Amino acid sequence: MEQLALGGLVADHVVDADRKASSGRDRHHLGVGLHGLQLGLEGWIRLHLTQEHLHLGNGHGGHWGAGCQKPCSAGYKRQATTWLGQGMGLGSTQLGVADQGGGVGQTLSWPRRSAMNTSELRKIPYTKPSITPLEVEFATDAAANGWGEHCYDYIVRFEEAFKAHLGVKYAIATSSCTGALHMGMHALGVGPGDEVIMADTNWIATAAPIVHLGATPVFVDILPDSWCLDPEQVEAAITAKTKAIVAVHLYGNLCEMDALLAIGERHGIPVIEDAAEAVGSVYHGKRAGSMGRFGAFSFHGTKTITTGEGGIFVTNDPDLYERVLTLSNHGRARGQSKQFWPDMVGFKYKMSNIQAAIGCAQMQRIEILTRVKRGIFAMYQDYLKDLPIRMNPEPLGCTNGYWMPTFVVEDCIPFNRDELIDELKAKGVDARVFFWPLSSTPAGGRKAFDKAYLSEEIHLHALNLPSHHNLSDEDALFVSNIARTYMASNVV
Ligand SMILES: Cc1ncc(COP(=O)(O)O)c(C=O)c1O
Repeated sequence: MEQLALGGLVADHVVDADRKASSGRDRHHLGVGLHGLQLGLEGWIRLHLTQEHLHLGNGHGGHWGAGCQKPCSAGYKRQATTWLGQGMGLGSTQLGVADQGGGVGQTLSWPRRSAMNTSELRKIPYTKPSITPLEVEFATDAAANGWGEHCYDYIVRFEEAFKAHLGVKYAIATSSCTGALHMGMHALGVGPGDEVIMADTNWIATAAPIVHLGATPVFVDILPDSWCLDPEQVEAAITAKTKAIVAVHLYGNLCEMDALLAIGERHGIPVIEDAAEAVGSVYHGKRAGSMGRFGAFSFHGTKTITTGEGGIFVTNDPDLYERVLTLSNHGRARGQSKQFWPDMVGFKYKMSNIQAAIGCAQMQRIEILTRVKRGIFAMYQDYLKDLPIRMNPEPLGCTNGYWMPTFVVEDCIPFNRDELIDELKAKGVDARVFFWPLSSTPAGGRKAFDKAYLSEEIHLHALNLPSHHNLSDEDALFVSNIARTYMASNVV
């Protein structure tokens, strides 16, 4: 065992010779306490990648350089062979990160890249939750003891932890993000005849509560870089009926909140943040979800932190909080002493204590879970960096939680998204289509678009990449090389 100092922190660095001997791989186990972690996992991953590049002496095959103009195809073809077949592997690296309490540890591993073979079959899901003994311990405790007078213990604890993380005053744990949005919009008075502006590029969960309240979602186009709603188009879409604007931080990318909040203020319209996909994203010092009149998060099993299914409503507005609190409890006002006495018709969108117990464990690990997402994005960014694509942006002063690493192929490049998805599937890799414009779906009226409509254009040229927390360096390289090979073979 050798000692390794990470940013002033001493960690155990164990080189496991047995494993090396048995598998031909070199494994490093790092036990790293979260307190005082200065170098950071992401930095470590970057360092790790850089070292590997040095070891291999095999950088990527040049850069796109020419920008996106027709002649670039020839350059792309020339480079294509260099893009293929890189990566001669060395080993496997494993990080064991000690929990803050010191009791329960967690292990996340990044096998280093080994000789890649894109014809190899493996199973790489696009997401799955990171569940450690800590989540199991808390859920078991809730199942065994969280009843009677303790039936809300983990829920309260989860809400407190999330509030502290986000820097907001009020939080109500819910059964889903959709439920949080539904109650929040209802409490803002969204109802029949109203309009709510949102980006066309979206999951239907944001639009469904608007429709259920009898209002109409008004879809606007997205920006080419953030893939989030375009503030200019938002302002142009405002009418006397506009009741709210929903800013969805897509795939962890941040909306232009300053512009949207200013528009909202000018017109007296609340801005809602749908931060379902934006745990870990920070906009100029403020966490996604904390800036609007209210925010909503999802803890579905595919998200950066999970409670299985679940969500949370957050706000700094005390009146709005009280209204949603009443709504969330079947319309029974806090302090109502009469039993079974609803003061209004409300909702039943509560998170269970057992779900919240899992959430409490995830909140103890939120720092590492978000850092791992950033590390995974960094791997893809590195392996795909010379391709004619753009990936999730991270504007100056912002941090992207990179829930879902995504690339958009420059539109002068021939690209058939479905063919690539099939290619990936054939090799065991799950990839997701970029969200459809909702207005193109049966639920949204099946509109046809002109070529300048970015929600359609980007949808056709983009792909979400797998990014579950145990995705290895080798997996990222494997996936990247399928994309690389596909793109090279499709350029004439
Ligand atoms: C942007 C967005 N909003 C809302 C939701 C709904 O979340 P939930 O499934 O927790 O209701 C999702 C979930 O996928 C989402 O991606």
